[in-house]
Amino acid sequence: MLHKTAETAAPIHELLANRWSPRAFTDRPVEPAKLLAVFEAARWAASSSNGQPWAFIVAQRSDKAAFDQMLQCLVPGNQSWAALAPVLILTFARLKWAGEERVNRTAQHDLGMATAMLSIQAEALGLRTHHMSGIDLDKIREVYAVPPDFDPVSAIALGYQGDAALLPEEKDRAREPNPRTRKPLDEFVFAGRFGAAAGLL
Ligand SMILES: Cc1cc2nc3c(=O)[nH]c(=O)nc-3n(C[C@H](O)[C@H](O)[C@H](O)COP(=O)(O)O)c2cc1C
Repeated sequence: MLHKTAETAAPIHELLANRWSPRAFTDRPVEPAKLLAVFEAARWAASSSNGQPWAFIVAQRSDKAAFDQMLQCLVPGNQSWAALAPVLILTFARLKWAGEERVNRTAQHDLGMATAMLSIQAEALGLRTHHMSGIDLDKIREVYAVPPDFDPVSAIALGYQGDAALLPEEKDRAREPNPRTRKPLDEFVFAGRFGAAAGLL
């Protein structure tokens, strides 16, 4: 199995260092208890004023109609590989405070907290996730009767990592082993003023 452990500038937890976003998944279904656990992890994310402004719709490949319906809500470039995943998830953020007209400025941030928790819980259970912004927002609204105060934000493929050879598209097979890269810390951790690298680095 392909491993892509991060080369870190400081030691970090192995769940964080080992997480990566594969496109190839095996057809092994995700056990119901594990699927429940990843949503339970999301549930316990921190959020502004404990507003919990998130929602998820889940589809498993074992329910072909529901799975195909969700797959059609991804852009074609994501559909080709995400069709392998045993579970697809759509994520939503409620952009206004429940029952109010006031905008929740951190709604998408809070959803990101929840999806990060979901991803790390998945890693702890031997699963991997691949997040997608390439989704069809209008189709999602129409297909799932999304209430107007919720915005579709992303999709997540969830399952057991598979071999790159399983990928139907040559471009995806070719990029699967690409190394993971990141900006150096001094490009985004500042002190004193914006842009001035923090001394701790
Ligand atoms: C919000 C979000 C949206 C993403 N959208 C897509 C996408 O539409 N298609 C895709 O193939 N990968 C997508 N990715 C995966 C990123 O490209 C990937 O996380 C990034 O290259 C870092 O790689 P790593 O997760 O393996 O460390 C997305 C990731 C995030 C967090």
